Amino acid sequence: MHLSIAINFLLCVTTFFQPGNAMNADRINQCPSLSPRDYIPKDVKDVRIDDIKVFGGLGDSVMAGFGMMGKRNGGYSIKDLLEYRGKNYAIGGDPAVNSLAGFTRRYQPLLKGYSTGQRFIDRCLDGPCTIKNYRPQVDHLNAAISGAIAKDLQSQLDYLIPEMKQFPGVEFENDWKLINIQIGSNDQCGLCTPHADDTTVEAYAYYVEEAIERIRSTVPNTIVNLIGNWHVSGLLALSDANPSYCKFGNKKTINLNPRSECPCLQSKSETEAMDLITTKFNIKLAEIAKKYEAKSDSFAVVFQPANLNLTSLPISAFSTLDCFHPSLLCHEYFAKLFWNSMFMPNSQKPDQYNYDKDLKIYCPIDDDRIVGV
Ligand SMILES: *[C@@H]1O[C@H](CO)[C@@H](O)[C@H](O)[C@H]1NC(C)=O
Repeated sequence: MHLSIAINFLLCVTTFFQPGNAMNADRINQCPSLSPRDYIPKDVKDVRIDDIKVFGGLGDSVMAGFGMMGKRNGGYSIKDLLEYRGKNYAIGGDPAVNSLAGFTRRYQPLLKGYSTGQRFIDRCLDGPCTIKNYRPQVDHLNAAISGAIAKDLQSQLDYLIPEMKQFPGVEFENDWKLINIQIGSNDQCGLCTPHADDTTVEAYAYYVEEAIERIRSTVPNTIVNLIGNWHVSGLLALSDANPSYCKFGNKKTINLNPRSECPCLQSKSETEAMDLITTKFNIKLAEIAKKYEAKSDSFAVVFQPANLNLTSLPISAFSTLDCFHPSLLCHEYFAKLFWNSMFMPNSQKPDQYNYDKDLKIYCPIDDDRIVGV
């Protein structure tokens, strides 16, 4: 009896409290705190997660959290086209939601910039977005716009940079910032639209790098967290296998589905061409991150590969609104996946992810840095 208690105790100790060894948790608040440091790092390679004071986001409907709660009011009206910005996997800041911002707040309670709540979609179909397309009380420093391609990152920066400069509590010159960028789903599908010229591999890489270079030259003390692309084609088999999941009633005024959201999904040859381009986009992103790895003491780009096998996800990981956009379940899974990836050496980041419903959250330790791991 005593012996078994002692053994159990020892097992607990060795499982959870090995000095210097990291643990994983189901909830971020189960993770131990970091030991405070009495200085603010001067070198980007020394920045820990608790040094990050400001979050920013650039991207498309995924970063905007579009559609993640599905058909809320029956899904029959235009009013259902909502962006749940406060719950998106990267910069969502609603209470208790799993997101990179939520996890970071566990270590830096004064974090600024995360988005909150929800708002109506604004796709800026008549041209580049302007400041008028934003709702600063919801978006905060999440400059993502649904439907955006890499070319639109410039107009997103036209919002983000001035907004960050005047954001209450942000010391623009000194605070360490993490700007999350995920762009490319619409560039993939762009191949089969009238903007095909703006979504070639070369154009895509040019626009992404142009945005990163503008951040480097105008936003001091920044780490860009560049998140890769998944092959959107992977969800077609899943949605075709679950035809009732996104079905609308007779009263429908909207009718969205993967083929309407991404025209390249309408034929096999176009889908294959799209998959090829996506693989090349990801190679370019890794090259851009590498180029900026050691460029200065106050700026770096880190890359999180995102080659998810979408077919391995349950259909409930997608929105009932269109069987295309990630649901809350999927956003919370992405949050854990990309958080864990941030603390993994590049060489250990998986080439492909298959869904793991029990994925745990990595608990950072004092020695973990964000850059150069
Ligand atoms: C992707 O997931 C599906 C469903 O789990 C599986 O059948 C398929 O083998 C996976 N693909 C790869 C390349 O692992």
